[in-house]
Amino acid sequence: MRYRGRFGILISGTGSNMQALVRAVERSQIPADVAFVGSDNPQSPGLEWARQRGIDTFSVNYRKISRLACRPCVALRRSEAQLLGSIQQHDYDLLCLAGFMRLLSPKVVDAISPKALSPRIMNIHPSLLPAFPGMDGYGDTWRYGCKVGGCTVHFVDHGEDTGPIIGQKTYLIEPDDTIDSIKAKGLKLEHELYPACVRLFFTKRFQVIAGDRGRLRVKVLPSNP
Ligand code: GRF
Repeated sequence: MRYRGRFGILISGTGSNMQALVRAVERSQIPADVAFVGSDNPQSPGLEWARQRGIDTFSVNYRKISRLACRPCVALRRSEAQLLGSIQQHDYDLLCLAGFMRLLSPKVVDAISPKALSPRIMNIHPSLLPAFPGMDGYGDTWRYGCKVGGCTVHFVDHGEDTGPIIGQKTYLIEPDDTIDSIKAKGLKLEHELYPACVRLFFTKRFQVIAGDRGRLRVKVLPSNP
């Protein structure tokens, strides 16, 4: 039997991007299986949704670990050790961060994705990177008065939303838009973009290449006719 790829997904909340990925697998738009869904929050509604679909799930209670630890750096070390341990119980080719609201430390990134030219952690970010990295991509886009907004899927490196860009989609910001309406426009695009980028990964239609000044870039290859 031909090997089918597998990917894991990390979420923190609703998990609408996770749901879009799972549905894309179910519709055979992504030629791979979901290995697990994990969360940093046991109460994530997305975890229950995944469980009901028969997907392996786990959670690491970052908040509780933080309450019990003497120092923030100890809490982070313990949380990440548990997270890595849970992830490593599974076979997977790719890890997708889908609304996972934590930065992974360089140690964890290197443990999962040791080769810069064959990265295997992806993230979806709600802005047109490199503009507005960080926690509030839609809010920052809105407050800046941008006339175009967007979302980005990128590989994860040691920085915050700095890794090589795989794909982007844009929307117009009209005079009667609000922060909520631009979020709705953006999320709709996120749900198309993320499955498309994961598909690129499993159909091997990309190369990571070193560009000017050593910056890594993703080159998307044409699909076979
Ligand atoms: C999305 O906007 C994602 O880009 C950002 O957090 C949000 C999570 O939404 N990182 P969901 O949990 O996938 O619904």
